Amino acid sequence: MYKYKVSILGTGFIGLCSAACFAEKDIMVLASTHNEKKANMINEGIAPFYEADLQEMMDDIKANKPEFLQCLTNPVKAVLESDISMITQGTPMREDKSIDLGYIESTAKEIGVALKQKDDYHLVVVRSTVVPGTSRNLVGKIITEVSGKVPGEDFGLCMQPEFLAEGRSIEDTLHPDRIIIGGFDDKSGEMLQEFYEYFYGDHLRNCPILRMNLESAELVKYGNNCLLSTKISYANEFANFAELVPNVDISQVMKGVGLDYRINSRFLRAGAGFGGSCFHKDVNAIKAWSKSKGYTSRLLEAVLSINDDQAIHIVDIAENLAGKLANKKVSLLGLAFKPGTDDMRKAASIRVINELRKRGVSDILGFDPKANKTAEIELGDKIKYANSIEEALTDSECALLITEWDEFKNLTPDDFKKHMKTPNLVDGRRLYDYSKFNLALPFRAMGRINLE
Ligand code: UDX
Repeated sequence: MYKYKVSILGTGFIGLCSAACFAEKDIMVLASTHNEKKANMINEGIAPFYEADLQEMMDDIKANKPEFLQCLTNPVKAVLESDISMITQGTPMREDKSIDLGYIESTAKEIGVALKQKDDYHLVVVRSTVVPGTSRNLVGKIITEVSGKVPGEDFGLCMQPEFLAEGRSIEDTLHPDRIIIGGFDDKSGEMLQEFYEYFYGDHLRNCPILRMNLESAELVKYGNNCLLSTKISYANEFANFAELVPNVDISQVMKGVGLDYRINSRFLRAGAGFGGSCFHKDVNAIKAWSKSKGYTSRLLEAVLSINDDQAIHIVDIAENLAGKLANKKVSLLGLAFKPGTDDMRKAASIRVINELRKRGVSDILGFDPKANKTAEIELGDKIKYANSIEEALTDSECALLITEWDEFKNLTPDDFKKHMKTPNLVDGRRLYDYSKFNLALPFRAMGRINLE
């Protein structure tokens, strides 16, 4: 038997990982996507994208309780047959860098169509990242207009931001550090809180549930992603300071800073800069949103430009080490935006490659343990793609480490010497032992440059 029947509208990282975690705990889930191929895969128990532990969980559900996770291509039906609907659609960045709420809008219309036909109270939960005001003024309004129903009476509305990181989506869904519930009214918030008390059980002893209004919850998500991005740009700014003083090492400096209990050392790793599907999108979205309300953010502008400049800076460092790179063969180790994924969205490698090409470097050979294929879709023939580390390094005159994959961690100075024409190496993620590599190779590392 089940206690809750939930529809999940959108089957990306947030949607499908939640769907699988809920189903695993005997919550009846009706996922919905307009993509028939994706729906078929999910119904066959196949994860349509790679995410750690997701396939194993889907295998288990398929084998032991397939009825708990079904995927439809009809969102109206999914809403009608459930008590709670969660909107987990993407909110991409528009050309002008503001948020694109198109998928949220169309999903709200579909919910409205369903609720028009439904007599029972229904709870709608926005879990996508949306700028303040969206849940009330877009989602709530559209549902009211289309269904003719009254929010707070006929349907409830919540906003519950999601904090999961790629590669950790299942882990983060099962073990969140807090649950933020923004409610249209007490009844809505109460109902979602009860749902999570049921889902998480004992885990809630270490995980506070924080209740607030819709707009505050929407802003919490931006508060998080902007602060994490700011920490990285802050570390990168200090990495640039560190390079002004001989033998100051940013890794040690940030370790010292991070030991302050008020700060903590996470997201203070300096290097080639942040990428991924969220940080650029969210920092830009809230920046554009605040501007539209008459407030121009200076801090977030700096966060983004420091991040962009890291790509120029790493190429400066490389040219300082190896001389002008035009007409030289350059290797990039790592293309994905972080290790453990094939995701290329906003990856630092793209900015580095653009800068190299701007400087006339055309012979660029990239290698990524997982992302060669996705990189080719993103970058086309801007670079060539190697099938192994050895192939990437062979005859190269300068190597740039861009993504800190485990596969690169174990490389020794001899590996670079053996394959490269001239073993110039720039460590863009502070992966290597500075003293060891600096003694053995023409070597530079971001955040520790000047040697006396
Ligand atoms: C991030 C947030 O962590 C997550 O909470 C949110 O929901 C979505 O965005 P994700 O984009 O998956 O998750 O990756 P994350 O592990 O946070 O890394 C983002 C980028 O920052 C990567 O490019 C990484 O290399 C870079 N980074 C991270 C640094 O440059 N330095 C650091 O110290 C940490």
